[in-house]
Amino acid sequence: MSDSPKRPLRSRQWFGAGGKQGFYYRSWLKGLGMPHDMFDGRPVIGICNTWSELTPCNSSFRELAEHVKHGIYEAGGFPLEFPVMSLGETQMRPTAMLYRNLASMDVEESIRANPMDGVVLLMGCDKTTPSLLMGAASVNLPTIGISGGPALSGNWRGKPLGSGTGVIEMSEMVRAGTLTQAEFTEAEACMQRSRGTCMTMGTASTMASLVETLGMALPENAAIPAVDSRRMRLAQLSGRRIVEMVREDLTMSKILTRSAFENAIRANAAIGGSTNAVIHLLALAGRLGVPLTLDDWDRIGSNLPCLVNLKPSGQYLMEDFFYAGGMPAVLREISSHLDLNALTVNGRTLGENIANAPCWNRDVIRPLAEPLKPAAGIVVLRGNLAPDGAVIKPSAASPHLLKHRGRAVVFENIEDFKARIDDEALNIDDTSVMVLKNCGPRGYPGMPEVGNMPLPPKLLRRGIADVVRISDGRMSGTAYGTVVLHVSPEAAAGGPLALVREGDFIELDVPGRRLHLDVAEEELARRRANWKPPVAPARGYAKQYVDHVQQAHLGADLDFLTGGSGGDVTRDSH
Ligand code: FES
Repeated sequence: MSDSPKRPLRSRQWFGAGGKQGFYYRSWLKGLGMPHDMFDGRPVIGICNTWSELTPCNSSFRELAEHVKHGIYEAGGFPLEFPVMSLGETQMRPTAMLYRNLASMDVEESIRANPMDGVVLLMGCDKTTPSLLMGAASVNLPTIGISGGPALSGNWRGKPLGSGTGVIEMSEMVRAGTLTQAEFTEAEACMQRSRGTCMTMGTASTMASLVETLGMALPENAAIPAVDSRRMRLAQLSGRRIVEMVREDLTMSKILTRSAFENAIRANAAIGGSTNAVIHLLALAGRLGVPLTLDDWDRIGSNLPCLVNLKPSGQYLMEDFFYAGGMPAVLREISSHLDLNALTVNGRTLGENIANAPCWNRDVIRPLAEPLKPAAGIVVLRGNLAPDGAVIKPSAASPHLLKHRGRAVVFENIEDFKARIDDEALNIDDTSVMVLKNCGPRGYPGMPEVGNMPLPPKLLRRGIADVVRISDGRMSGTAYGTVVLHVSPEAAAGGPLALVREGDFIELDVPGRRLHLDVAEEELARRRANWKPPVAPARGYAKQYVDHVQQAHLGADLDFLTGGSGGDVTRDSH
């Protein structure tokens, strides 16, 4: 490997500058104790860190960053760690998703404005992965990702307890009267037993798995537990590798091609991945100018089986997944469906990376011929209730509800839902279709994970575990049920969902890809004439978001953020 980079170092426009300006750029760094030759001619690597005590899932990132730095120094680079807005899924209100695009702007502008030749993205909790990828993609420097890794398996009273999935199951038991509040509280400390992300195949694990599949991280990135020493080793190797990537000018757009996205869509089916991946990958593709549509998810991925036996679709947890072989084993199993020539950050093809990947547990990672669930990828529904599409994850749904016609029980917004769902007088039974409006990108705002509405206690007590649910919101990747999500256009944008009334009949036909509101067009026109949009935020980021956010079928990015500005260096600062 030659030490001379293929392209002049971007950082030289700072640290190689003469006169007063060069003095500024160098002198203050020397104030940190840095010798001149540390940043004179070496690849400068930004370490984009989402560490925050408000994002407990990413609480190992200070230590992780130190291991990345070791690798960067070893390879002859110069690391500069910088913080960006961190999005803690469990703490942020009204939803971390409102801030995904804002954080991506922070990432993009932090990279563009500063003397970096390459970037390492430290990603973990759900939205920290897409926001960093999206922001970095709009700059398109050589970039490598490393995920924080899942937490150790949860365990309560000798049984596995999965992040999110366990909460949803247990809270339904409390509402059904089969679990006490004291037991529920005791389980809190038994679920998140260590630092790290949710250890089910929720959104964080899904996105980490897809980062690896996309080729944006080294093999094994997805599943090594956060506290396993091999995670630190991977960080160090990622640090070494990014310096080489700068020398090779291996930019993000050379890795994130259409083939890489198609591979990710197929992998998402094989892992029983989160519906949130649909929105995030559409937004990421939009930053790179890669043509990717909602329908691609159905066309490319829906006929693939789910092989990974992890909650919420199956029974195991991420630690088991790692010991079984992780993503390399899954990708090898579905290799006949992948473009094996897709390039990855280590300079090798995906096919080369997975050629000899072993699987150590065939119950955790099933063979392609004996899948956990057949045809498990995301299905895209259309019809007069979702003209621009809606999604459902059949692997998490009840087979008997995939073709269903039922009477709508309508909640106008989340407050209406919370006020009435526990009412014993609620007119609902197991054939009903629950409809929740105004939870889309504009309506909430931010598109929260409320689409998997909890069932009413009166149904839970009868042992009914699922009914069809439809909304313009999202669902946690750890959730399950026959849940239709991302209805587009959303109710707050005047989509047909806004016109549904109590007692209307709705037809769901997953095999036929159809979502139909059984109401005459003339009646819908009458209702539309009386519809009024909800009051929008008056100021600040929330106003900017509502004014510019695109609908879910386009990835819910802000319209002015699609595409990229590149890494060109702007004017001097003084
Ligand atoms: Fe952070 Fe699940 S809440 S990864």
